[in-house]
Amino acid sequence: MRAIKDMSSIKKIEGFDIDIEKIPKHIAIIMDGNGRWAQKRKLPRALGHRAGVDAIRDVIETSSNIGISYLSIYAFSTENWKRPQEEISTLMKLLIEYLRKEVKELHKNNVRINTIGNIKKFPEDVQNEINKAKELTEHNNGLCVNIALNYGGRDEITRTVKKICNEFLNDGLVIDDIDEKLINAYLDSSNIPDPDLLIRTSGEYRLSNFLLWQCAYSELWFTEVHWPDFTGKHLLQAIEDFQKRQRRFGGI
Ligand code: IPE
Ligand code: IPE
Ligand code: MG
Repeated sequence: MRAIKDMSSIKKIEGFDIDIEKIPKHIAIIMDGNGRWAQKRKLPRALGHRAGVDAIRDVIETSSNIGISYLSIYAFSTENWKRPQEEISTLMKLLIEYLRKEVKELHKNNVRINTIGNIKKFPEDVQNEINKAKELTEHNNGLCVNIALNYGGRDEITRTVKKICNEFLNDGLVIDDIDEKLINAYLDSSNIPDPDLLIRTSGEYRLSNFLLWQCAYSELWFTEVHWPDFTGKHLLQAIEDFQKRQRRFGGI
C-alpha cells in the first residue's frame, strides 16, 4: 500500500523523475565559472558575468514552479574584493542592473528577496537598490531568493561572535545560554533552515567560504557545467540525484 502511495508522488518533470513530496526545502548554489565560460568563447570576463546573471532567471523560475522554499545564491564573496577593481565595478553594475530589471517580475511572482553578508561595504547606490528590492518583496510568501553579497562563512561567524559578546555586555546573557540554537539565531541566515542541497558549478570541489555553519549536513552536488550554461534542467537533475540519497545525520 505504502509503495503505491510513494510511487504516485513521483512526477516526470522535463524528463526527470521528481518526487514532489520530497522537494528540498532549501537549495544553495555556488554560481562559479563565468570567467571560464567567457574565456572559452574568447570574450571578456564581463560578458561571462552578464551571461551568468541571465542564467539566474531560469533557475529561479524552476525553483518557484516546483515549490522550493529557499534558494541561496552566492553572488559575491568576502574574498572577491581581491579581484581587479574593474571587474568588481562590473559586478556592482550588473547587480544594480539585475535588481532594476528583474525585481518587479519577481515581486509579481510572489518571490521574496533576502540577502546575507555585510552589504555595508558596497557603494551606496548598490545598497539602496538592494534595500528597495527587499522592502518591496518583504511580505511575499513564495520562493525566498537569498542572495549572498559580500558574504563569507568566516566573516558571518565572526560578526555573530561579536553580536553575542555585545549581548553579554549589555543584555545579561550568560555563558550557559550559549548553544547551537542561540548561535544560529545570530547568524545572517537566522530565519532560514539549513540547505538540504548545495550545488557548485564549473568543476571546482570546494566551499570557498560559503555557508560553513549551515552546510554541516547538506548534500553536495557538483557539475562541470559553467554557471552561464546552467539551467532549470540541471537543477532538476541535481534534485533527482539528491532524492536518491539517504540522509542519516549521524544516525543509522
Ligand atoms: C563566478 O564566476 C562569479 C563570481 C565569483 C562573482 P567566476 O568569475 O569565479 O568565474 P571563473 O571561476 O573565473 O571561471
Ligand atoms: C566563489 O567562487 C564565490 C562566488 C561564486 C561568488 P570563486 O570563484 O570566488 O571561488 P574560488 O576562488 O575559485 O575558490
Ligand atoms: Mg570562480
